[in-house]
Amino acid sequence: MSKNICFIDGLEGILKYREIDINQLVELPYDAISYLLIQGELPADQELAEYSARLHGEREINREVMDVIRMCKLDIDAMEALRTIVSFISQFDPDLDDSSPEGNMRKAIRLIAKIPTIVAAYYRVANGKDPVPPDASLSHGANFLYMLKGRKPSELEAEVMEKDFILSAEHELNASTFSSRVTASTLSDLYSAVVSGLCTLKGPLHGGARAEVMTMLEEIGNPGNAEKYVLEKIGNRDKIMGFGHRVYKTYDPRGTIFKQLSRQLAEAKGDMHWYDTAEAIENTVVRELVEKKGKPIYPNVDFYSGVIYKYMDIPPQLATAIFAIGRVSGWIAHCFDQYEKKKIIRPRAFMLDEC
Ligand SMILES: CC(C)(COP(=O)(O)OP(=O)(O)OC[C@H]1O[C@@H](n2cnc3c(N)ncnc32)[C@H](O)[C@@H]1OP(=O)(O)O)[C@@H](O)C(=O)NCCC(=O)NCCS
Repeated sequence: MSKNICFIDGLEGILKYREIDINQLVELPYDAISYLLIQGELPADQELAEYSARLHGEREINREVMDVIRMCKLDIDAMEALRTIVSFISQFDPDLDDSSPEGNMRKAIRLIAKIPTIVAAYYRVANGKDPVPPDASLSHGANFLYMLKGRKPSELEAEVMEKDFILSAEHELNASTFSSRVTASTLSDLYSAVVSGLCTLKGPLHGGARAEVMTMLEEIGNPGNAEKYVLEKIGNRDKIMGFGHRVYKTYDPRGTIFKQLSRQLAEAKGDMHWYDTAEAIENTVVRELVEKKGKPIYPNVDFYSGVIYKYMDIPPQLATAIFAIGRVSGWIAHCFDQYEKKKIIRPRAFMLDEC
């Protein structure tokens, strides 16, 4: 069943969740994709309404959690705070010791629902603002932006956020999902497995690349500087953030959708600056590394998503934590699969030579 959660053809650039192409999935609400990943099939209308209602009903965080959020340092990456707080909230979950499928599902709903609230609350507190309580009438994406900014997002912003969460939701046995699965394979609880995923996602070679892309865009400043920057990086044998992938040896289909979305946002805001800068970086990387050197280094999921965050005024310190909001459904789908197997993952050390 684990193979079934996600399918990637890295040569053809195909990605499917539960055998459905990502280009189709991206048109659905995030809640439907979360349900699909965890339950194995798309929900019927009534099932989706019930699942969304359960998620919306679990978005609130309690006073003790808010107290810990207030105790976090103000200038840390939101992932630091998120990792600490997800670990902290497990003790309030009445189902913590219930590892039945029903108990695990209730924990899953709480995790998926509360993580956006934690990220938004931390960000507002860190910026001297009061947290904004969730609005149960809004979608996962719209509600997150509302809690973050304290105003309802435009239709396009809400749509882009939903799609961002969907495109980030699952990607087979990537490093953080592997970590989560290893933890679940010991029959440790779901909170511990999600904390493992968060710890691994944080690294700059994984989810942390998105924040680095945003910093790079700032450093480059405008499209005219992009070529020189990329040539210097290549000359120094440095990696260009947001490019390359262990599995994709062609365009990452998520990157292609993110590129279209960032263009849509740029046009809607009447400001092509960041889009043009990103495209100039992409053109130079593809010319220098793909065309001249034959290396399959194309934009990955983190490149144009970083551009989107620039247009949505989302700071780099939030980029990886937002990735985690989407990815938690994928981690949970894999953990449930692993719980069913009841078998510990214990690779041998020689296998590391192949990593
Ligand atoms: C994602 C990544 C870790 C995959 O790593 P990998 O499969 O181990 O690939 P390698 O690091 O072995 O790279 C293979 C070659 O391509 C080059 N390369 C890979 N990614 C590159 C990048 N982003 N910029 C420039 N060159 C890159 C490597 O230098 C290497 O060249 P060499 O054969 O001359 O030594 C790697 O591409 C990377 O670090 N990318 C930047 C970080 C990033 O965006 N991460 C998010 C991933 S979704």
